[in-house]
Amino acid sequence: MKTAGAAGIVAGTAGLLGETQAAETLRSLAAKKGLLIGSAFSRGALLKDPEYGKIIAREFNCLVAENEMKMDVVQRVRGEFDFTQADAIMAFAARHEMMVRAVPLVWHDALPQWAKNKTFPRQEALDILREHIFTVMRHFRGNVLAWDVLNEGLNDKAPGLRQQGPWFHSIGPEYAEKVYHMAHEADPEAVLFYNDFDMDGMSESADRCYLWIKELLARGVPIHGIGLQYHVKIDNHPNPADVTRNIRRFNDLGLIVHITELDVWLPAKATAEHLRQQAAIYRGVIETALAARNCPAVMLWGFSDRYSWVPGISRGTYDHALIYDRDYRPKPAYEAIAAALR
Ligand code: XIL
Repeated sequence: MKTAGAAGIVAGTAGLLGETQAAETLRSLAAKKGLLIGSAFSRGALLKDPEYGKIIAREFNCLVAENEMKMDVVQRVRGEFDFTQADAIMAFAARHEMMVRAVPLVWHDALPQWAKNKTFPRQEALDILREHIFTVMRHFRGNVLAWDVLNEGLNDKAPGLRQQGPWFHSIGPEYAEKVYHMAHEADPEAVLFYNDFDMDGMSESADRCYLWIKELLARGVPIHGIGLQYHVKIDNHPNPADVTRNIRRFNDLGLIVHITELDVWLPAKATAEHLRQQAAIYRGVIETALAARNCPAVMLWGFSDRYSWVPGISRGTYDHALIYDRDYRPKPAYEAIAAALR
């Protein structure tokens, strides 16, 4: 099994980010620290909004496709792979010398119609996953920093796997480790992550994830990193000391950690005080990542409240989760990240 090589990845990162910008940006500051600072990227926003691409290329050195690499997009029609949107994102990243995190290969969500709410004969489901993993990973081979192989595979409320979606139902719980073996076979050089939410600090679900990953590693399952999604709310977020402990215990298993989908949700009617508290939370995450040995990347789930998924998913209850407002004015959280990086 390939070891995580966390230190190597951190060092490699610094070399890749030879920055030329004169003005101070999050990107230029992060490069000095060897940190990848990333954002989710929406092709749709890029096409309709020129300012969007300018800001993302100026402020970030890493991208993740918000939706364009998910199964419902790349394999909308069974057996036919369409990388048009994903390739456009890869081209944007290459043009602006940005790294790319690739997500997710296997998930119970973002399924194409032909797989949604379906149960397949076991071998057929394994063949579908194998073809998907091999085709997608080989298409992007050598061009992505890391892969979220399985996304949100654990039950977030009780022990065991999430019993949802065609892969669990068709294959059984062992699907979860099989997909890592497939991914490793598809590209033995690829860095393979498990990504999940609500396990950023120390909690029961974080403990369950830790023990599960430890068990998989003991059985030789090729997993190299853990993605902490870090979708948090202003009134419910982990304290940095706990996040540090959590990251450290994964380090002790030889694993890298990425913060993969950071956003900090505020009430829809946010006050200046909320913005100040939000800034402190963002600052804490950056400081935690910088202080950890094995956390070379912090990805935000977008950068501007103009396009955040939060109002939609929370049905209007929460909003203002990112670091620029709807008019692309940097919020206190932007300045807090910059300060942490300085
Ligand atoms: C979300 C996107 O932001 C939305 O645009 C889409 O409608 C649904 O998916 N965890 C994940 C991400 O791993 O892929 C999700 O992204 C947010 C939660």
